[in-house]
Amino acid sequence: MKIVRLAFGCAVLAATWAFADARPGADLGAATVAGGAALSRRAATEGIVLLKNDGTLPLNEGDRVAVFDLSGKYRSGGGGSSNVKPVRIVDIPSGLADAGLQVDSQSRETAVLVVGRASAESADAADKAFGLSPKERKTLDEIKAGGFRRIAVVCNCGHAIDLGPLARDPAIGAILWAWFPGGEGGAAIGDILTGKVNPSGRLASTFAGRVEDYPSNAKWRDSLYYVPYEEDVFVGYRYFETIPGAKEKVVYPFGHGLSYTSFSLEVLENLEVLDQLEIKVKVENTGKVAGKRSVLCYTSQKGGAAEHPSIELRAFAKTRLLQPGESEELMLSFEKRDLAYFDDEGTSGHPGAWVLDKGEYTVLVGGSVRDVKKVASFKMEKEVVLSTPGFKLQTDRLARRLRADGSYSETPVVYQGVTGKLKKNGFQDKAVETPTVTLFDVADGRATLDELLDQMTLQELLHLCYGHEKQDKAATGSIGALEKFGISAAQTCDGPAGVRRELPATYFPCAALLACAFDTALVEAIGERIGAEAAEADFDILLAPGLCIHRHPLCGRNFEYFSEDPVVSGRCAASYVRGVQNQGVGATIKHFAANNRETGRRVELNIISERAFREIYLRGFERAIKESAPWAVMSSYNGSNGFNSSVSHGLVTGILREEWGFEGVVMTDWHTSVPMWREIAAGNDVKMPDEHEMTLRANEGLSAAVKAVVVRDVLSVVQIRQSARRVCELVMKTRRFAREKVDFDKRRNAAGH
Ligand code: GAL
Repeated sequence: MKIVRLAFGCAVLAATWAFADARPGADLGAATVAGGAALSRRAATEGIVLLKNDGTLPLNEGDRVAVFDLSGKYRSGGGGSSNVKPVRIVDIPSGLADAGLQVDSQSRETAVLVVGRASAESADAADKAFGLSPKERKTLDEIKAGGFRRIAVVCNCGHAIDLGPLARDPAIGAILWAWFPGGEGGAAIGDILTGKVNPSGRLASTFAGRVEDYPSNAKWRDSLYYVPYEEDVFVGYRYFETIPGAKEKVVYPFGHGLSYTSFSLEVLENLEVLDQLEIKVKVENTGKVAGKRSVLCYTSQKGGAAEHPSIELRAFAKTRLLQPGESEELMLSFEKRDLAYFDDEGTSGHPGAWVLDKGEYTVLVGGSVRDVKKVASFKMEKEVVLSTPGFKLQTDRLARRLRADGSYSETPVVYQGVTGKLKKNGFQDKAVETPTVTLFDVADGRATLDELLDQMTLQELLHLCYGHEKQDKAATGSIGALEKFGISAAQTCDGPAGVRRELPATYFPCAALLACAFDTALVEAIGERIGAEAAEADFDILLAPGLCIHRHPLCGRNFEYFSEDPVVSGRCAASYVRGVQNQGVGATIKHFAANNRETGRRVELNIISERAFREIYLRGFERAIKESAPWAVMSSYNGSNGFNSSVSHGLVTGILREEWGFEGVVMTDWHTSVPMWREIAAGNDVKMPDEHEMTLRANEGLSAAVKAVVVRDVLSVVQIRQSARRVCELVMKTRRFAREKVDFDKRRNAAGH
């Protein structure tokens, strides 16, 4: 392998929106609406996946189509955090008409069947939702008997379904998978069906034939209170491509996606640059119509000391629109350290370490996990220990874990601990009337944060550790809000698919669809647009993106999360965060961590080996933190290995802060069921949307309660001050604080300072 230094460039969509002045409670400007709609539609066309096509598609302008909604109305998005009051909704019939098709229920030319599935947080889909319902099958049979020349199916679903019958049915000429494609989704579907846009999406999660085919299903509904992750690191394609007998269960594999044109891939160079592997691939459009092509790069390994999935995604990139005969060179790169595994069983002799296993490594390039070719290989004579962070998240409750040969084995027993330190100083017993130091002084370097916090009572310090009033009924509350000390009330709002508030906003495609675009520049553009609309509506922090792993096909929030793969999840989340934050709005990656089931989400505890936890469920968060520095993290309702996430010291302090160096604010999800003191002790700074009225508003009752807690050596005031400090640092980043500081400086100058 040649050693050459190459600049690794990625096309990042450079688009900046000059957002209008902050106007809380005002309608979006016309320019914002138009820009948002165009981007939302483009994103949907990039993420929609063409799964099957026997030549039925593309349709021609003027073709007559009869649309059959097999499962109720068109769904732009899912319920809860990702819900958006849309500026408008373009449903499928309207979109098809916009695309020049003649929508005619009497026509027997082409039938477009829409299979839909709703999805929302706080509930998972029932098993029966995975298959076609009797009513859907009956209607399908009637349509098949209806003498149509062509039948195309469009899936407008918030979770995976069994596509086997449709895939195998010769009467079904084409299948599109559109997830929840946002407010412009109908138009995007029209663009794809008519070939105005050539589909370029690829599945970012595996579609199997039955719910039972997913290993996570074995104990999915066993208990409201715990979920054992016995499949371990063998999640999604890592399971289906590794475990004997699992391959046959797949209907459409990870990375699958068709186009109306064809492409050739040619590897021009594969280089090892220090600890970076770089593969240059020439992509040529060898077909008759313009199109885009994403290229996925995987590795496989054998001969190591530990168990490994047979194939793992390491990098991906996407071409621009290539005309027939045109080509583009893509650079795919990843670090060797990305190939390391976390040795939680001491297989390498180094328990608690990240280890690059010995053995034969192969680099593969292509599309789906079934459509790759080997491009390079290298050998590691002996394992290399990259770091030894030790155990932070171990469990002794995982009864067994899956091995690559399909067998199960016993798991290690190591306990996780939480520690607290006693500190009695650090706060005022009596509130100061007029502080001598404000956050504005800290921002100008005239004072330190400690000097600011030294002026506060315990209750004032704790005031910073829970949420406060919101500026818009449909929004989600503020953080900080201690005006006396110049600490602004930083306003938060949902959510992943657009700004959720009382007034309309652009409704974007869901995260799961965006992942299928395999285009991080596009995801960054979406983040920018949502950030711009949040800024225009005068919000400071957006509660998005969500990036938990698709572990089970029926999880009620899969639509809000990107993929079954941590590389796709982490890179999409990092791009989304960069987009949002370059508009001066903070992003909040969520739900940290391993929120992979909605049933019992407030009470259940996962049971996960530390290896699977770190390599699968945390890896995307780690990448997002290191590649985009989100201002905030939202811990999840659920828990793992004995601790609810918001009180897991190992997770929030051990991993997030000590190992990954995260210095921002950790907030809870809404109304968590554990006491605030334990959340602060774990390093979770802010309880949202607020602490229980009775506890905190009871003045002396609060201070007495906290002193008792501090005296009892469970919670140290140092920990409270750490959280208060991080909240102040977050507030200082906001546009609101900058605006309020202008007024403060004017008053200060007028007073002759
Ligand atoms: C929760 C949800 C969070 C956030 C919050 C505020 O139910 O899990 O993601 O959206 O509501 O609306």
